[in-house]
Order: sequence, then structure tokens, then C-alpha cells
Amino acid sequence: MAEPETSDVEGERLQKVLARVGIGSRRACEDLIADERVTVNGEVAVLGRRVDPTVDVIEVDGALIAVRPDAVYYLLNKPVEVVTTADDPQGRSTVVELVPDDPRVFPVGRLDYLTEGLLLLTNDGELTHRLTHPSFGVEKEYLASVEGVPSRGALRRLREGVELDDGVTAPAKASMSTPGLVRLTIHEGRNRQVRRMCDAIGHPVTRLVRTRIGPLADRSLKPGEWRSLTPDEVRQLAAAVTNPDAQPDEPKPPKRANR
Ligand code: URA
Repeated sequence: MAEPETSDVEGERLQKVLARVGIGSRRACEDLIADERVTVNGEVAVLGRRVDPTVDVIEVDGALIAVRPDAVYYLLNKPVEVVTTADDPQGRSTVVELVPDDPRVFPVGRLDYLTEGLLLLTNDGELTHRLTHPSFGVEKEYLASVEGVPSRGALRRLREGVELDDGVTAPAKASMSTPGLVRLTIHEGRNRQVRRMCDAIGHPVTRLVRTRIGPLADRSLKPGEWRSLTPDEVRQLAAAVTNPDAQPDEPKPPKRANR
């Protein structure tokens, strides 16, 4: 059989890597491995397994463990009139210009040119993939200033789903504590979704701010400011994109390693 990319005789011991990121003591991590609760690249890990945390995908009970020592995670408060791309042919300001340029990072998902608020940028491709994949359904919360004052029925339509040209939206959370200021939480990532939902109920958006991405929120970041995620936030984020098929109480046994 061909050798796996990360040989078992190289790399760091799995329990050491797990302990380093705070999963538990080395002994506790050994127990997790012995109990077959840890997978490496989708296969159940055995005690003594060595890993390369820069390439191997490590999960405990189906939850991705962010252990890449070279990975960076920035939370940016995107200002208006900045594009969410790495490079803009029209020469407009981009979000990557607002964060350090080494290592190179990419935005996770996108905010419209005129949308403000929280945006994650990282060089962790696996986490990006999971955060943007619809099956993981990470919640995003927005504050939308809208024209007029939506009625209770209009808010109910937002909650129950509105007909857009690419289909009915999934159930959402919608509330309004200040007239004309709608707090909307969605877990789909369709293009201009919030603006289109508000258009559909007859209350176009005049200002849109993203205030939360899954477990991440920060009211102290000013527009244009960024900060690194704390290790705990990275773990919470990784937990939020747990394998959707995994059951927390009774994890499905993943495919056993063929060696
Ligand atoms: N929904 C929108 O309409 N715009 C965004 O930028 C994000 C969500």
C-alpha cells in the first residue's frame, strides 16, 4: 500500500498535539484516542499515531481541531466601500489590504462593497471550506437599517422564509427592538441575501452591518480595525463547523484506518 502523505514515523505524537491545543492532559488525550474518538484525515487514529499539524485534518468526536501552528485568523471590522476580494481590477480598496500581508490570507465568504461589519480572514483552507459550506450552516447575524418600519407580519415572513429568485429562504431569526432596525440571523450564504430578503418584504436596506459570525462577535472593533482570534475562539469556531453527520452524544464511528 502506498505510504500516506504524513508517515507514521515522522511528525508529532497525536496526543501531544491535542494536549497542546488544550483538549486535555496528554493522558486524557491518549484515552480519547484509545476510545476511537479521534480521527486523522477522516480515519480513526490509533495510539502512537504521529501527525503533521500543518497538513493533517484532526477531529475529536467529529469536531475539527484547529492545530495548525502556521495558521492565522483575523477578525476584521470591514468598513463600507471596501471589496471582499484579494485583488480588485477596478483598483478599489480591498479587505486584505487592511490586515498583515504575510502570511497571505483570504476572506471567508464575502460582504458586499457597501456592507460593514465582521469578516474573518485566514490561511486555513479547511476551516474556510467548512465555514462557507452550506451543510454546516454557521449562523451570521446582521443589523439592517431599512426604509420604513416593517410590520409584525413582514418580520414573520423573514422568519418563515421569503421567495427570492433563487428559491425560498430557510427559516431565519428576525426581530426589531428599534423601529426600522432589523436584527436578522441567517445560516445560508446566498449572494446579497439580507438585502434581497428585505427588498422582498418591501423594506429596502439603507445600511447593513454584520455583527456575528457563529461564535464570533466583537463590539469594540472599529471600522477598519482587526485583531487575531484567541485560541479559544479558534476552537469554538472549529466546533461550530463540526461534521454535520456527527452526533455529539453518540459519535458515528468513522472509517477505520487500513493499517
Ligand atoms: N447579505 C447581504 O445582502 N449582503 C452582505 O454583504 C451579506 C449578507
